[in-house]
Amino acid sequence: MHDSVDPTREEIVTLQTHVLQEKRRQADASGTLSWILSALSISAKIIAAQLRRARLENVLGAAGAENVQGEQQQKLDVIANNVLMRALGARDGVMVLASEEAAEPVVITENHGQERGYCVLFDPLDGSSNLDVAGGVGTIFSVLRHDRRSSRTEDSVLQPGDRQVAAGYVFYGSSTVLVLTTGEGVDMFVLDTSIGAFIRVERGLKIPATGRCYSLNEGNRQSFPAGYRAYLDWAQQNGYSSRYVGAMVADVHRTLLQGGVFMYPPTEKAPQGKLRLLYEANPMAMIIEQAGGQASDGTGRILEVQPTALHQRTPVVLGSSAEVARVMECLVPSPEAGAA
Ligand code: AHG
Ligand code: MN
Ligand code: MN
Repeated sequence: MHDSVDPTREEIVTLQTHVLQEKRRQADASGTLSWILSALSISAKIIAAQLRRARLENVLGAAGAENVQGEQQQKLDVIANNVLMRALGARDGVMVLASEEAAEPVVITENHGQERGYCVLFDPLDGSSNLDVAGGVGTIFSVLRHDRRSSRTEDSVLQPGDRQVAAGYVFYGSSTVLVLTTGEGVDMFVLDTSIGAFIRVERGLKIPATGRCYSLNEGNRQSFPAGYRAYLDWAQQNGYSSRYVGAMVADVHRTLLQGGVFMYPPTEKAPQGKLRLLYEANPMAMIIEQAGGQASDGTGRILEVQPTALHQRTPVVLGSSAEVARVMECLVPSPEAGAA
């Protein structure tokens, strides 16, 4: 007699079901967070569909304007931003929306003054310069509870990352993958386009504790602080591989699944690095920590940084704990090493 697998143990769970199960476990009696996650899931499906048809419908290339960071906006940056604004702006309990593509946070006046409200922050399309070559891109999101103590409603987005109640990203690659945490581990879903649903493929995802791979824009090496250059020397002497897509979502996704370290160090041109604290570094740091890894700004935990500005940038070092620890040793040499 051969061992038969009990089919009742191989459950099929969609993102929608998952979110409902989470709602029961969490103090989200009103279900507001569930509605927000469902708006994010719909946005991801719409954006994934738009990306697939982009070349055919001639929506590749620059939109002709710059965003608030002085970067060229791609047409798809604008499209993805509008999709998220429309999907989230209509949801009950969303009080503030903040996007990489908008100069100021948007306050949803209809929901203003509600008992429980949330702020949703996002990078609508991450790695958008990869679009013209059909490379992987993503969407990154971060959800915070509205902080009633802030003097202006919009200032409530300026909370340290360890107050995030949910964070995640969508990777539009050879398949569309959604990675989510609500503070109790990391779960992964893949979009089944034939039925239009995200299906859970992994629960309690853990990042490997080690991984012999580093990921950063090595073209900037000359202008990295000495510690990062010392780390690269060490990694190369020890046979590490280098992998860099140039889209944070793609690089972090690989790091999460295969281990290693992803970095965007300070450079002469960008003394605080290039990545944005609120809608790139914080959500990715929460995912990586929830998966058992580490995320540092080169001096301490990213999630403890008190933000002072919406579009603030931060250096990023994240990944497998042993690999991040190794980078940190190079950045902050121990006193004994200095004395030797
Ligand atoms: P975005 O497309 O949202 O502006 O983000 C681009 C970011 C990030 O995805 C990536 O890690 C980084 O830019 C790559 O920068 P370099 O080209 O300087 O390496
Ligand atoms: Mn980005
Ligand atoms: Mn972007």
